[in-house]
Amino acid sequence: MRTESTPNQIQKWLSELSLEQKVNLVVGMGQNVPGIADVEQEEKVPGAAGSTYPIPELGIPSLTLADGPAGLRIEPERDGTDKTFYCTAFPIATLLASSWDTELVERVGEAFGKEVKEYGVDILLSPAMNIHRNPLAGRNFEYYAEDPYLSGYMGAAMVKGVESQGVGTSIKHFVANNSETNRMHLDTHVSERALREIYLRGFEIVVKEAQPWTIMSAYNKINGTYASESEELLETILRDEWGYEGLVMTDWFAGEDPAGQMMAGNDLLMPGVPPQRQALLAAVKSGELDEAVLDRNVARILELILRSPVYQKYAYSDQPDLEGHAKLARAVAAEGIVLLKNETQTLPLASSNLKVATFGVGSYDFIAGGAGSGDVNNAYTVSLVEGLENAGITLNEDLKAKYLTFVGAEKAKLPEKRYFFDLLPPIPEMLINRAEIATQAQLNDLALITIGRNSGEFQDRQTEGDFYLTKTEQELITNVSDTFHKAGKKVVVLLNIGNVIETASWRDQADAIVLAWQGGQEAGNALTDVLTGKITPSGKLPTTFVRSYDDVPSAKTFPGEENPGGAIKQVGEMVMAREAEITFHDDIMVGYRHYNTKGIETAYPFGFGLSYTTFEYESLELSSNQIEQTLSVRVTIKNTGELSGKEVVQLYLSAPGLTIEKPAMELKGFAKTRLLQPGEKQTLTMDLNPKDLASFDTAQSAWVVEAGTYTIKIGASSTNIRLEKNFIAANMIVEKVNKVLVPKK
Ligand code: GLC
Repeated sequence: MRTESTPNQIQKWLSELSLEQKVNLVVGMGQNVPGIADVEQEEKVPGAAGSTYPIPELGIPSLTLADGPAGLRIEPERDGTDKTFYCTAFPIATLLASSWDTELVERVGEAFGKEVKEYGVDILLSPAMNIHRNPLAGRNFEYYAEDPYLSGYMGAAMVKGVESQGVGTSIKHFVANNSETNRMHLDTHVSERALREIYLRGFEIVVKEAQPWTIMSAYNKINGTYASESEELLETILRDEWGYEGLVMTDWFAGEDPAGQMMAGNDLLMPGVPPQRQALLAAVKSGELDEAVLDRNVARILELILRSPVYQKYAYSDQPDLEGHAKLARAVAAEGIVLLKNETQTLPLASSNLKVATFGVGSYDFIAGGAGSGDVNNAYTVSLVEGLENAGITLNEDLKAKYLTFVGAEKAKLPEKRYFFDLLPPIPEMLINRAEIATQAQLNDLALITIGRNSGEFQDRQTEGDFYLTKTEQELITNVSDTFHKAGKKVVVLLNIGNVIETASWRDQADAIVLAWQGGQEAGNALTDVLTGKITPSGKLPTTFVRSYDDVPSAKTFPGEENPGGAIKQVGEMVMAREAEITFHDDIMVGYRHYNTKGIETAYPFGFGLSYTTFEYESLELSSNQIEQTLSVRVTIKNTGELSGKEVVQLYLSAPGLTIEKPAMELKGFAKTRLLQPGEKQTLTMDLNPKDLASFDTAQSAWVVEAGTYTIKIGASSTNIRLEKNFIAANMIVEKVNKVLVPKK
């Protein structure tokens, strides 16, 4: 928050700083990476991702920056003390988005921000907001959705929550970083329209709704220029068009030209390596880099410092309320769980004195979140089995013992993690014969099967054995299903995954399917709360579950092609990338925009999610039949079932599409009811404005509204439209912008 003293203090500092000190301020203090110069100062918070350069003689402290999107990532133990520094593993971003509840996400942000502040960190390197362009992208779990509107409003809620505690965020990775393979040297070829409507739009919403303290530019190039070296991206779009007032930092070791990054408006180079300082000094002395540009970037760093806890000498406790945050993590995890199938009221479990057979290594080795910088050093993870036992459900001890022994033996075979971000290979599914399953079918009332998946930064996923089930997993589901159904017992499949997997080929064998995502450290308790009906599931899909990977519009070109003989990008001893490129041929037709427009059947569509109760969409009213500035949409929902529940109402817009190609529909609003008791109803209001109708017209470099009749489609999912109403719009130029980031011919 700017105060009247801010400019004076900044001008004063600028007048006192030497050129060397200015250059030191725009380059971070380094990171302990093999082959890279060690951090040049005692780490205030061990395990943090980086820090800025202190100038104590001028009263300028060092800022501490730490990951990540699902929880603060710092070392849980330190030399010289028995105290521990565990952090709360909240649910992953995709689960948060599955709640479609911005108020809830803001509450998570508040707790998150408290934890960041109490551990002495100034900037949280989160939220991550890249679009789910392809289900194989390794970091989709860190990202919200395949749709920029949902992603933008989730990101804005998180930023508001975290920053309400007086610490900063860094929305990332700005922009069009939608895969991991060769990300540091990948040139993304993308149209102006797809950039504006799909890849930039979510960030634009966050900047205009929440003004995050910082933004992290992406590793990749956009149409030939590194994001961190693109003045068109970082000054023209971000500052001139969107009015962004904060600071831009690089991703770690990103880009190649420090002077170019400075000129582009990338104010801070992280984590910072000494050669960058030398390059900048030389650039100023040679006149390549105007010192006035350096001063502009230094001023942004000083402004960030002035608003930071460390500058305000906040006496952090190292004692955040981990117990309270764990309770919140559990409640939130349940809100993002998506009920995909529930035949003949299989769920909620009839009572907690059921005898349950828990199959699948995933039931015992539950995954709280993904790998890489999005990982968290949490004190514990409650597995499904532990969650069930906490709820007093009787498990078959013999089966449990077999699995625990197997999981223990397989874990013992795993290699040591070389670095924190290593993604360990998955534990293979345990073979179990039909005789053993038949025994379990006699002894138990119900079978639960967990399928687990993990992924992480630095690598994208595979189709075989990852997107698709392994042969052993398929056999497990078939054998358990056949055997338990023969014994008149039911089967529930639970998905503990961070990205989309294939479901269509096996789902008919399950009576119920619950998508638990990766629900953080309390995941097993949260899932049990839903299975037992303590909480009615209300999550809906923020990303499409396709029937086959081949249906994905980007399948053929993902994750890009390496340029033969292209340069390599090395960080210390590690070869991080080879020169590569990828073209976003799918353009604006990403996710449901593609499937719904082309009429391609999916396994579970965007916005899909069942409940234990039913809802009637009673009425839809518009404030007018023509849009001027704002059109208010009011929808009344009634709980017509036997159990309480919440409903996520989605507002899709279908445009005339006469003079400009448009998807069949686009999400332009959503709202979630409170918990409605049977018979209760609630009216929800959503507002539409002209920007929501507008398309990016490349020829005019403007957001334009095409005159004609628009249809509001109120849906329980993107393919389950319950109410519709039309309104008209006149031709409008909503916003003229600049012609920038133009693809090379
Ligand atoms: C990583 C990630 C970024 C993270 C940063 C610091 O490479 O791309 O998300 O915040 O470096 O760890």
